[in-house]
Amino acid sequence: MHTLQNLKKKYSEVRQGTEYLCKNISAEDHVVQPIEDVSPPKWHLGHSSWFFEVFILMPYMKAFKAYKPEYHFLFNSYYESMGDRILRANRGNLSRPASEEIYSYRKYIDAAMLAFMDTLNETDTKLIYLIELGLNHEQQHQELLVYDIKYILGNNPLFPAYSEKIPTTENPVIPASDKNEAIRLEEGVYSIGYQGNGFCFDHEREHHKVYINGAMIDKYPVLNGEYLEFIHSGAYEKFEFWLSEGWDYIQRNRIRAPLYWHRIDNTWWHYTLSGLQLLDENIPVSHVSYYEADAYARWKNKRLPTEAEWEVAALQEHEKIPGNANFLWAKNFECTALNGDNKLFGDVWEWTSSAFAAYPGYIQERGALGEYNGKFMINQMVLRGGSYATPADHIRFSYRNFFHSNKRWQVCGFRLAQ
Ligand SMILES: [Fe+2]
Repeated sequence: MHTLQNLKKKYSEVRQGTEYLCKNISAEDHVVQPIEDVSPPKWHLGHSSWFFEVFILMPYMKAFKAYKPEYHFLFNSYYESMGDRILRANRGNLSRPASEEIYSYRKYIDAAMLAFMDTLNETDTKLIYLIELGLNHEQQHQELLVYDIKYILGNNPLFPAYSEKIPTTENPVIPASDKNEAIRLEEGVYSIGYQGNGFCFDHEREHHKVYINGAMIDKYPVLNGEYLEFIHSGAYEKFEFWLSEGWDYIQRNRIRAPLYWHRIDNTWWHYTLSGLQLLDENIPVSHVSYYEADAYARWKNKRLPTEAEWEVAALQEHEKIPGNANFLWAKNFECTALNGDNKLFGDVWEWTSSAFAAYPGYIQERGALGEYNGKFMINQMVLRGGSYATPADHIRFSYRNFFHSNKRWQVCGFRLAQ
């Protein structure tokens, strides 16, 4: 739990961080929505402010006046309890309010939030929790902003760069022979889930026991160069490696490589936030669907780890989350080469074979905030470990991300188990 003093500091840092991410994109980049999953950056800027406005300021700050009540229709995402909202697919049709106006909205909310925090004291634990939730929510939107900006720029025929920084990936330190190392999990009963009195999302609870049959978890995630062998083996043309849904999915969408990969004159390139680059074979593969991760595992006669195996392996390997992991504010905006670290944290979210479902003892909150996670516990898979788009102070060992099996615009890769 934060003290009020550092909560105010964190509030300002998070809010500024979001705007920093949009600093180098154009006014036009702020508006477009090339596919339904990708929200316009200006919508993220508005929605993350709306969250503080409707869940904290309106119910709890006396004399607070809504900035513009009509914004509540524009910036509600999926909260049925918060009333009608614009269709998700129509977010990109909003030329108004102009981005400038949304930045003014943010300033208005920030001034109110900072004033509101001054009226709190340390015993207002419920309100402190709500503010932390708002900040964690905004950090999730920072990550989404990176995905969405990458999609907007990476699907533009000019392949514009977002950031000049190209991570140094030459001369990986890990020789191929060491790449096969594994983390051994002994058979036994372990505990996973959140334990402690800091912030966590409701679905990380309860801390509970799991039985693990004994497993070997690959020490490193699968790399682009390894994934290239999978492609060159013709695996995208062989139904025997694919889940039935996955086979339909790659046929229907004519998928033959990860998102952002391009084969130009027999050479593989990939779009990164530094622009179109020669495919870097030494960094973890990213932007593959669950179906592709699963097919790769079958092709290797291995499997994906369960989320329990992943968490137990992470707890076994690390006392705390490594400070040098490749998270958002390292500002690499891309995976980096193996350097001996197992990369359980950072670089790519790792698909697990676990469906997103309630842990034993899970209690869904009442009211609108109960809609945050609980209603998504259907047909989605859990991913673990955070990515180069995740703020380092947002992730935990017990953190459970979740996406549908066909999604791959998020920064997702995988490691194997057996
Ligand atoms: Fe949201």
